[in-house]
Amino acid sequence: MIIYQDNNTKIHFNNFDYITNLINSKNVFIIADSNVYNHYSYIFQNVRTFILESKEENKSLNSYQNCISELIQTQSGRDTTIIAIGGGIVCDFAGFVATTYKRGTKLVLVPTTLLAQVDAAIGGKNALNFDSVKNLIGTFRLPDEIIIEPEFLKTLEESEFNNGMSEIIKIAAIYDETLFNYLENNIVSQIDAENLNYVLNKSILSKMDIINLDMYDKGLRIILNFGHTLAHSLESVYKISHGQSVSIGIAFASSISLQNKLINEFTYFRIIHLLTKYGLNNSLNIEPEKLIKFILQDKKNQNGIIRKILICNIGKHKIQEFTLEQYLGYIHDLC
Ligand SMILES: NC(=O)c1ccc[n+]([C@@H]2O[C@H](COP(=O)([O-])OP(=O)(O)OC[C@H]3O[C@@H](n4cnc5c(N)ncnc54)[C@H](O)[C@@H]3O)[C@@H](O)[C@H]2O)c1
Repeated sequence: MIIYQDNNTKIHFNNFDYITNLINSKNVFIIADSNVYNHYSYIFQNVRTFILESKEENKSLNSYQNCISELIQTQSGRDTTIIAIGGGIVCDFAGFVATTYKRGTKLVLVPTTLLAQVDAAIGGKNALNFDSVKNLIGTFRLPDEIIIEPEFLKTLEESEFNNGMSEIIKIAAIYDETLFNYLENNIVSQIDAENLNYVLNKSILSKMDIINLDMYDKGLRIILNFGHTLAHSLESVYKISHGQSVSIGIAFASSISLQNKLINEFTYFRIIHLLTKYGLNNSLNIEPEKLIKFILQDKKNQNGIIRKILICNIGKHKIQEFTLEQYLGYIHDLC
């Protein structure tokens, strides 16, 4: 089934046969996550595959060079289709390879984590890390095709599934009230196909809506950073997962929204309750000094102004500027 199509990209849903046929077609080069390769080894037989162990350290120029060498060795050309099969790390990496090798090959993404299915594979951002700075080198380019196959999520660890739920709750909270209500009234899990399929479709199409209005991150797309300013610092300072950091970031941004009277207490607790329902944290024992040191070093804050995405009622967002001092004050209140 095709759930989205325009002149640049096409999104397939629930079509495992399409994936196996594509893998076995001529002139493809697969870039696969090592865990996915082991779990689903039967789909990779007799096809040239570059295996990437999904660690942030491997989203690197070094792995990029190794991959380019293999593309050259296998005489891959501009007409080769690069197929990424894995989580966000593999999708970001393969997207960058496909955009740059011979100035661009065809690209198909098969995201296999919930986070990659609803977020990393959607929207055409590709990247490598450099010098321990995340996503410093990258490109914008939508993949030719994305294949969302919920079957892959059955082998995903529960904590990784919950990580993906944080991005779904994020988009529901600031952009899609119907999705938010659905998440509250149903239980979404790896094994319940009906609820999972609904939520996957809804969050992917909401993200595509935003991308279509602002592909190059110059306006509306910034709202997808809801909860992410704090999340990025938590990830770096405390080395906790992206999903758990985003969840704490969502709770923090909601608390600032409450303090600025954009939402009432009832709405605030609806958000907190939803995060808890999906196994996500809404607080952490934070040492403010460590976090503030990181925030002060962050290049994005050089002019002393922080643009925060806040929530004003479920499904609605507001962009508000704070001085660095105001923002640090909120961090102090949090601890
Ligand atoms: N481009 C974007 O717009 C965008 C958006 C969000 C995140 N990202 C990037 O995505 C990355 C995080 O992605 P992620 O959360 O998917 O992490 P990930 O790619 O590291 O995958 C998480 C873990 O799940 C394993 N895995 C993947 N699929 C599996 C499956 N089907 N069964 C069992 N195990 C499986 C992986 O081996 C890994 O251990 C980060 O590098 C982040 O920067 C990019």
